[in-house]
Amino acid sequence: MQARPVSYSQTTITELMIPSYANFGGKIHGGILLSLMDKVAYATASKHAGTYCVTVTVDKVEFLQPVEVGELVALKASVNYVGKTSMVIGIRVEAQQIKTGKIKHTNSCYFTMVAKGDDDKPALVPPLLLQNQEEVKRFIEALHMKEIKQNIRQQMDDANSAVHLDKAEELLANERCEIQLKA
Ligand SMILES: CC(C)(COP(=O)(O)OP(=O)(O)OC[C@H]1O[C@@H](n2cnc3c(N)ncnc32)[C@H](O)[C@@H]1OP(=O)(O)O)[C@@H](O)C(=O)NCCC(=O)NCCS
Repeated sequence: MQARPVSYSQTTITELMIPSYANFGGKIHGGILLSLMDKVAYATASKHAGTYCVTVTVDKVEFLQPVEVGELVALKASVNYVGKTSMVIGIRVEAQQIKTGKIKHTNSCYFTMVAKGDDDKPALVPPLLLQNQEEVKRFIEALHMKEIKQNIRQQMDDANSAVHLDKAEELLANERCEIQLKA
């Protein structure tokens, strides 16, 4: 299988934030941005793989800066890493104020996508051709993140199975909750 360069599948979606995208506070609803991220991740992954793809995990989605109605949001996505059937898509989200031209970087996040074959099973994806230092750096970062996530998943499973309700009062003594169990 021939390697495909990162540039082959790089995709940008630009969308104007219209009033119907706003939440009760007048800012753009997080779900709208998530949906756009999923779209650009899908477009990028499926271009690289040449197949239908599914979203498996979403990492580091944080809404730290609000996006306003009237801003132009650009979601720039690239394949940062490929495994056998999975790909990590890095997405940079920027919002531009149209009148001033001022651009704010609102978020960078990572979607793991898996390519599916016609049999609906995970399908092998082409290797990634890394053509500059930045692409090599991103690939290595994604490899590290994959290992960290595997460790965290294991720790979360261990933590969940280690919950002992007989120690609940002691454990929650300094937390902002009250225990009033109903009979
Ligand atoms: C994701 C899915 C394809 C995995 O299927 P599976 O039979 O468990 O396949 P595998 O164990 O062979 O894993 C396939 C790849 O997914 C990766 N993967 C599976 N679970 C993962 C997780 N929690 N996080 C990151 N990667 C994961 C594996 O590492 C593997 O990658 P690799 O081939 O590059 O090594 C399957 O669970 C699925 O179809 N889920 C539904 C996805 C969906 O509907 N998404 C929302 C709508 S698009």
